[in-house]
Amino acid sequence: MAVLQSPSQGNKANNPEVESPQHNKLEEGSKKLGMHIEDIFTDYINRTKIKLKRTLSGAGHENQHASSGKDKFTDYIDCGKVKLRTTSSVGGSVSCDAKTTPDLPVLQNTLIAMESIREASQRIARISAHLQPPNSQTEESCVLKRADCRAKGGAPGFKVAILGAAGGIGQPLAMLMKMNPLVSVLHLYDVVNTPGVTADIGHMDTGAVVRGFLGQPQLENALTGMDLVIIPAGVPRKPGMTRDDLFNINAGIVRTLCEGIAKCCPNAIVNLISNPVNSTVPIAAEVFKKAGTYDPKRLLGVTMLDVVRANTFVAEVLGLHPKEVDVPVVGGHAGVTILPLLSQVKPPSSFTPEETENLTKRIQDGGTEVVQAKAGAGSATLSMAYAAVKFADACLRGLRGDAGVVECAFVASEVTELPFFATKVRLGRRGAEEVYQLGPLNEYERVGLERAKKELAESIQKGVSFIRK
Ligand SMILES: NC(=O)c1ccc[n+]([C@@H]2O[C@H](COP(=O)([O-])OP(=O)(O)OC[C@H]3O[C@@H](n4cnc5c(N)ncnc54)[C@H](O)[C@@H]3O)[C@@H](O)[C@H]2O)c1
Repeated sequence: MAVLQSPSQGNKANNPEVESPQHNKLEEGSKKLGMHIEDIFTDYINRTKIKLKRTLSGAGHENQHASSGKDKFTDYIDCGKVKLRTTSSVGGSVSCDAKTTPDLPVLQNTLIAMESIREASQRIARISAHLQPPNSQTEESCVLKRADCRAKGGAPGFKVAILGAAGGIGQPLAMLMKMNPLVSVLHLYDVVNTPGVTADIGHMDTGAVVRGFLGQPQLENALTGMDLVIIPAGVPRKPGMTRDDLFNINAGIVRTLCEGIAKCCPNAIVNLISNPVNSTVPIAAEVFKKAGTYDPKRLLGVTMLDVVRANTFVAEVLGLHPKEVDVPVVGGHAGVTILPLLSQVKPPSSFTPEETENLTKRIQDGGTEVVQAKAGAGSATLSMAYAAVKFADACLRGLRGDAGVVECAFVASEVTELPFFATKVRLGRRGAEEVYQLGPLNEYERVGLERAKKELAESIQKGVSFIRK
């Protein structure tokens, strides 16, 4: 006979029957009748040949089917993913297609009680998922394992890891990803401070289960099974530092993290934020090639902050809401390699040469504007976290199979003679499924493109040499 199990530990593990007030009440009632609650239910199903309509809730779709008899009841007890509810108090997922009989209230009470026990179990499972450290010993000793917790309690969605999650970008990025309904599991990895960030973010009452991972020995656990990996790990630019000054520190960090990705989640989409993006993307590509896991569609350098800034600054000039403005930004993600195509702005707009010069320069120097304003206290973190989440959300919508998801990113490309270049790309189930051409450029943009390509070629080569040397 099926039993109602509690996921909690201690004496509950020895006594799998849940001691909730509803359950006790129900047990008392069923003892009076000389039957276990499940006997009542099975007996009822068998006698009435009642038909139960079951609703399976999935990722945005409902899958309904009907079944009847004892099997159905066993199914209910055994299948933790399925939420069955009576029509009376908890909702309407189970409906009785057969004639109602005088026993129906008994059935309904039984279902309600069982449902509350199940919900209590799910709550305990969720709490345990947050509290248990990612340690295989703990997992084994837990009555309800972590995977079961997801099956019983979690919303459907994607598994996302943030590497560098305790940093200036990482923390707000983690908070915003915890709010994203497409995320079911959020892994926060850093070499410092992840327990605190995880506890903090984990208290947010949104669907994703958050788990923290600290230091190199936990990198593999953090990465295993991930659909999307976002990397803001590294050091930011300080006043007077160029993005290329960061190269030596961040190149090594990105190499190590990408080796972990190649080993533990080679099919994940990678969103690379760590600077200099113009070099770290080629570094990541070389690491994946070495490991034999390179899929150019799945490796995306995040240039979304340039687009976000361009939309904001152009909207200011045009007197529009930034949401109404779309500015393609191509090339790369440093200084003159950032090339906003103002001739292609939507809605179609014209700018004076002076406006074009000022806007282009402001977009290219947006990072410096923040570094100087923060006066030694860091670089762009909040706007970057916003941009990273906007881009990650687009990647997840692509993974889900949404049509027409198009954003700019720095990817492997044949648009120019360079092996990597940022343009608009269409995001799909396999990442950047289509890389769009530049479109018609005006004279100002053609000059800018040549300048951008010259600098980009050097940065790309620097990244490739870092791994091949
Ligand atoms: N792509 C963009 O548009 C863009 C914009 C702004 C900043 N950035 C870059 O993002 C990176 C992070 O910036 P930040 O302001 O958050 O810096 P930060 O120093 O505040 O945070 C970086 C985090 O990375 C962690 N870290 C360091 N080594 C690590 C490793 N081996 N594994 C995992 N985590 C590690 C640090 O502990 C820290 O918590 C920098 O390289 C910065 O230049 C990119």
